Amino acid sequence: MSRSTNLQKLTIAMPKGRIFEESLVFLEQAGLKVTQDLKDTRKLIIPVEDSHLEFILAKPTDVPTYVQYGVADVGVVGKDVLLEEERDVYELLDLQIGYCRMMVAGLPDFSPSEYPRVATKYPRIASRYFREQGQQVEVIKLNGSVELAPLIGLAERIVDIVSTGQTLRENGLVELEHICEITTRLIANRASYRMKSEAVDDIAQKFLQVIPKSPAGKR
Ligand code: PRP
Repeated sequence: MSRSTNLQKLTIAMPKGRIFEESLVFLEQAGLKVTQDLKDTRKLIIPVEDSHLEFILAKPTDVPTYVQYGVADVGVVGKDVLLEEERDVYELLDLQIGYCRMMVAGLPDFSPSEYPRVATKYPRIASRYFREQGQQVEVIKLNGSVELAPLIGLAERIVDIVSTGQTLRENGLVELEHICEITTRLIANRASYRMKSEAVDDIAQKFLQVIPKSPAGKR
């Protein structure tokens, strides 16, 4: 019997989104069995054959929620989501993948108005940032295509993640201020971290072996 079959059952929440493909490659490199199922399926719960592992596929913003409530023991999630969701979870490892930047962006001729508005998918991050800068802004929550906002006069600026910069470029927007760098993290439920320490540690050790020295994809 292999060592891994003696470990406690572990449920891993994976984010079905921007960082999904890169996270799967990382898991494979770490020696985890990533079945074809995980890539192609519409199924949301995927047990791994002959293993103590099981995956759940979640909307990225829900990964910390599943982990906080213990329906997943660990999760793979972007730091952007962690900063925005502020869930009570352990952040175990920076996987140094899924690199991007959290930026303030706008039109090149941007100048602040009396009642500045900022559109974003990240209202908490944006509010916190502008509060720290001592700037009063109205934050407008959007669920996607945030780059549209300055083009149609909904908001002067946006707060969003920038990866290749293509979306900003193609819409004539520029980066104005750098808020923070974002990478993908391994998080754990607080109880699982204690009660299933061997299984959690087994995953963390496997991940540690393959973490790139500097953020993959950083420009
Ligand atoms: C993200 C982000 C930007 C874009 C940045 O959006 O919100 O719009 O990717 O990537 P780039 O710098 O490589 O162009 P996503 O693709 O997740 O879609 P959404 O706008 O619908 O949320």
